[in-house]
Amino acid sequence: MPYFSEFINRVINADCLAALPQLADSSVDFVLTDPPYLVGYHDRHGRRIAGDVDGHWLKPAFAQMFRVLKAGRFCVSFYGWQRAEEFLAAWRAAGFQPVGHLVWVKSYASKRGLLASQHEQAYLLAKGPTGRPTKVLPDVLDWQYTGNVLHPTQKPVRSLKPVIESFTRPGEVVLDPFCGSGTTALAAKNLGRHWVGIEVSEAFSRLASRRLGKAV
Ligand SMILES: C[S@@+](CC[C@H](N)C(=O)[O-])C[C@H]1O[C@@H](n2cnc3c(N)ncnc32)[C@H](O)[C@@H]1O
Repeated sequence: MPYFSEFINRVINADCLAALPQLADSSVDFVLTDPPYLVGYHDRHGRRIAGDVDGHWLKPAFAQMFRVLKAGRFCVSFYGWQRAEEFLAAWRAAGFQPVGHLVWVKSYASKRGLLASQHEQAYLLAKGPTGRPTKVLPDVLDWQYTGNVLHPTQKPVRSLKPVIESFTRPGEVVLDPFCGSGTTALAAKNLGRHWVGIEVSEAFSRLASRRLGKAV
């Protein structure tokens, strides 16, 4: 098994189903991830997301995230509301307990259908019994517009920071195995946390590495 130092503060260009098994049990303090939503997403430029049609990775990836997370700690996972049952089934099969739900409110609509889409959502999942954070985070937070310049589903650094601040301490390790343009990792880095990013697309993993100021 590679040393943990080979993963720490690096973006690994790999399928997380291949990379996560190389991380030791109970080696990370927090998982904050934004996996594909299984909705066949494409934006107005025709950009698509790898793994967004077939959910074969869902159960094995969350089983690995559960294994590498320390006991008594948390995973926050964005998810597609259209496929909520599959996400909840995968989290529960892995051993996670849903213990909270976060909503980020947008000042604009990202899509207009039957409703104007003005929120993003994520579950707070626990690995076994947990303590309470010193500062309790509201479960409704502000969203900042990114324009999806770096990635078709780019999350805002500023909107992720309060979550990392609430559930980790400086020097702890934050994992995102679906890291895209590296937003989770950048938020963790800016807060003085260590981070591990995994991204299957070579182009996005290079972009994330550059964004994080690392040699590729
Ligand atoms: C919803 S996007 C994450 C966007 C990210 N939060 C950001 O702000 O840029 C999901 C990412 O997971 C990647 N992905 C899909 N399947 C993967 C897998 N099996 N292993 C690692 N990365 C994967 C996709 O290429 C995509 O970049």
